[in-house]
Amino acid sequence: MIYGHNGATTGPQRGHNGATTGFQREASPVTYFEWTSAIEIGHTEIDEQHKRLLLLGEAVVEPLMNSTEHKPAAAQLQALIDFAQEHFAFEEGLMRAAGYPGGDEHAKYHASLLEELRTYCVKVRRGGHTNPVGLISFLWHWIILHIGSEDRDLVVWLKSQEPDGGG
Ligand SMILES: [Fe+2]
Ligand SMILES: [Fe+2]
Repeated sequence: MIYGHNGATTGPQRGHNGATTGFQREASPVTYFEWTSAIEIGHTEIDEQHKRLLLLGEAVVEPLMNSTEHKPAAAQLQALIDFAQEHFAFEEGLMRAAGYPGGDEHAKYHASLLEELRTYCVKVRRGGHTNPVGLISFLWHWIILHIGSEDRDLVVWLKSQEPDGGG
């Protein structure tokens, strides 16, 4: 796990339906990647893209947990990777255009996340990934924690650069 910062160590939280134990190999109404206002960081385009990332993350869960075939999960994971790549390029373009001082570090997180995702995807595609819980936990951590730390920092800084101070 590449995220050791912010003291966040918990995995997907099941705050509803009374389910607290996490992952089970059965059809479940639980939404793992649910959009909440706590994830919103106040940049319209980035927030919209994050919503889509969550939907794509959720779309990985069902085939990963419930399908005995590995191809559907690999295809969903690839869709998530493709969009994550677009989204990261969008953020990096914003950072470059604005001269964001934390841009290099932020871009390194993106590169590292993509690399890990691709590694997972190769394993899933080959049918060699036998730990769906670990993968879902990884997805959840990187989506939620990256949004809440590096992405939020970026948006706060962008707003501070606006002529009116972002107010
Ligand atoms: Fe982001
Ligand atoms: Fe980011």
